[in-house]
Amino acid sequence: MAKPTPFPRVRMRRLRYHPAVRQLVRSVQLTPSNLILPLFVRSGKQIRQPIGAMPGQFQLSVDQLANEARDAANLGLGGIILFGIPEHKDSMGSDSCQDDGIIQQAIRAAKEAAPELLVITDVCFCEYTDHGHCGVLHDRGAGQMDVDNDATLKLLGQQALSHVRAGADLIAPSGMMDGMVGVIRETLDQQGHYHIPIMSYAVKYASAFYGPFRDAAESTPQFGDRRTYQMDPMVSAAQALREAELDLEEGADLIMVKPALAYLDIVRQISETYPGTPLAAYNVSGEYSMVKAAAAQGWIDEQSVVMESLGAMKRAGATTLITYWAKEVAQWLVT
Ligand code: PBG
Repeated sequence: MAKPTPFPRVRMRRLRYHPAVRQLVRSVQLTPSNLILPLFVRSGKQIRQPIGAMPGQFQLSVDQLANEARDAANLGLGGIILFGIPEHKDSMGSDSCQDDGIIQQAIRAAKEAAPELLVITDVCFCEYTDHGHCGVLHDRGAGQMDVDNDATLKLLGQQALSHVRAGADLIAPSGMMDGMVGVIRETLDQQGHYHIPIMSYAVKYASAFYGPFRDAAESTPQFGDRRTYQMDPMVSAAQALREAELDLEEGADLIMVKPALAYLDIVRQISETYPGTPLAAYNVSGEYSMVKAAAAQGWIDEQSVVMESLGAMKRAGATTLITYWAKEVAQWLVT
């Protein structure tokens, strides 16, 4: 005899019939204080240079960045993460370590405009090197150029220190160099900055979803790609856990998975493996541009798709979301 079905005693739709009941049983919440807004800074004055592949995003001069920082603070955002585009790039990415470099100017301006706002910096060399790679190069033999891990580590320590000296509240190394978190932690500690947290891009894939960002930050590699340092998307999820474990052992305070949408399985696994560690998901440029493009055609509703996607990242276990929509989301949440 067939087992009797629970229906009609059990009806899932009872939890959905009334808007207030739907609200009552939600467990995923988006809040402005969990959102981080990425901003691109360049030299000049009064510049808001639209980024072609990212409608609604701009390369900002320092004065304009200060306005954005004020807006972000007024909206109650969790923070801003800054990317610098220097006027002069060289093989070592020197501008990133200089007191009057573009990023250092940006940090000071943001802190002055909005002292209570968390100012985070992306610590990497790809925006600052003329070859567009995330560190200094060496010849692996037979003219095969590659990023020199250990030589880059020394410079990463200097870059992070210089950002902190300019006033950065939190440091986010994104270069996928082995040992980067440890070296930065040690450098900051030696100089007395032991209270500055590190949010490591621990699990960062060599992803085609970064395409529009490279336009925005003018950081496209001039040859080759980033596959010798960023993770292979097709590798087992166990490698992501290993990357997270190593960065935590080196002293990372928060860890990140990047990109977000195609890697929610990884977000879930890391959040379950390290439930006590804050986990950021980076809703990257390609994820942004795809939605913008489809919305501009009238094919999808931007606000609904964004809220649903960011909600999914939270549901997968992210505590913190880095998104180009941070300001809009904060506004949508109050309307
Ligand atoms: C490296 C960095 C990149 C992004 C954030 N930090 C680019 C890369 O690794 O090529 C991409 C972010 C995005 O696509 O939105 N400094």
